[in-house]
Amino acid sequence: TGASRRIAVFGAGYIGLVTGACFAELGHRVVVRDIQPERIRLLNSSDVPFFEPGLGELIARNKERLAFTLDVQEAVADAEAVFVCVDTPPTASGDADLSRVWAVIDAVRRASHLVAVVVKSTVPVGTGARVRAALDERGLTHVGYASNPEFTAEGRAVDDFLHPDRVVIGTEDPTAAAWLADLYKPLDAPVELMDVASAEMVKLASNALLATRITFINEIATVCEATGADITRVSRAIGLDHRLGPHFLKAGLGYGGSCFPKDSRALRAMASNSGYPFQLLNAVIQVNELQPRRAVQRLKAELNGLKGRRIALLGMTFKPATDDMREAPSAVIAARLLAEGATVTCWDPMAPRTTADHAPWTSVTRHPDPLTALTDADAAILVTEWPELTELDWPTAARTMRTPLLLDGRNLLDPTPLLAAGFTHMSVGRPTHRPT
Ligand code: UDX
Repeated sequence: TGASRRIAVFGAGYIGLVTGACFAELGHRVVVRDIQPERIRLLNSSDVPFFEPGLGELIARNKERLAFTLDVQEAVADAEAVFVCVDTPPTASGDADLSRVWAVIDAVRRASHLVAVVVKSTVPVGTGARVRAALDERGLTHVGYASNPEFTAEGRAVDDFLHPDRVVIGTEDPTAAAWLADLYKPLDAPVELMDVASAEMVKLASNALLATRITFINEIATVCEATGADITRVSRAIGLDHRLGPHFLKAGLGYGGSCFPKDSRALRAMASNSGYPFQLLNAVIQVNELQPRRAVQRLKAELNGLKGRRIALLGMTFKPATDDMREAPSAVIAARLLAEGATVTCWDPMAPRTTADHAPWTSVTRHPDPLTALTDADAAILVTEWPELTELDWPTAARTMRTPLLLDGRNLLDPTPLLAAGFTHMSVGRPTHRPT
């Protein structure tokens, strides 16, 4: 391990907290700054504002090397580098809202002692060049600028950060490049050093390609449904081709979360702004928007209409092992079911209580366990592949429902015991099984 560095992290969201805690774990002194007083108060009382496995323990273990503050000067005064980890939400035009990034640049306008300003937030290609110009305008010509995108996935972010497939560093500044390469050395990962624009593109292109893979397999699944093929067998065999690999070939209800939907729309907007309509990505986005609606459509056909039907949604978060509801397919499914006149109940082990304050969840009854959510239901949709659902007593579920009909939107469950329990079993990209 190298020397202990002094690091400021701006933004105490998923990326900022994981980055801060992991750098502290590597022996560096880190000050994390956020503008939300409640968030800083929570962190200072050893609480984490959202669920991420292992993060709380990591923060607790590195307490002496980690500080949380609202104060810009406290964060920057002693720092060698500032990591920008603020969010970049989409605007009405589909472009990224960079106001939080600019606020950080403004906050460091007198920090001429910095080795580098490092942007981890996902930003459009060209942002780095604009930040560089803004730093120069403020006389910070010898403060390096670097793009250092983050590829961690929620639910395993700490592990991803400490064991990355690669570290991407985009900078035109040799001092910043050397400082960052040294910082990441203990991770023993390949370091891809490149120009700023290319590093910015790597992040957007990686997420767009992963989103494309998921969408491709979802479309194959739709064709499987029409032709009698089984997507789970097809995916498995495709994935054994070493040129393709097994990951991100699971058909489901479409990708959600804080990254794929936002980043693919941002890349599409960026391409359009430069006069190039990104047709493949455009199709990916459209297919993904249809995917949860197709599930509702299939259920509607199976039940001869949804009006007056009682439908239970099992799982709400965009994937398991997170409490994140951003761009969750469950919200589209619930809204569509309600619009079709159905009564909707739901269950989720981790979705925040505050979810109930927002549409469509204001009109959905949430239950503390799956079986009560299923009581008297005409059908259930398995939306999130929570392990609790693998363990569920499905024969009892069949008896508590009015009609035992399940649409397994994640292909989580083995159809054979469900059939034996009396279920009609629908899933994604596989034949529907009906009890005879
Ligand atoms: C993703 C990227 O993996 C990460 O590198 C990037 O930094 C941020 O975005 P995350 O959003 O946390 O991470 O979740 P991920 O596990 O990648 O899943 C994204 C979505 O795709 C989920 O909705 C998931 O259900 C869906 N998915 C994933 C599929 O439908 N099928 C798959 O085979 C894989």
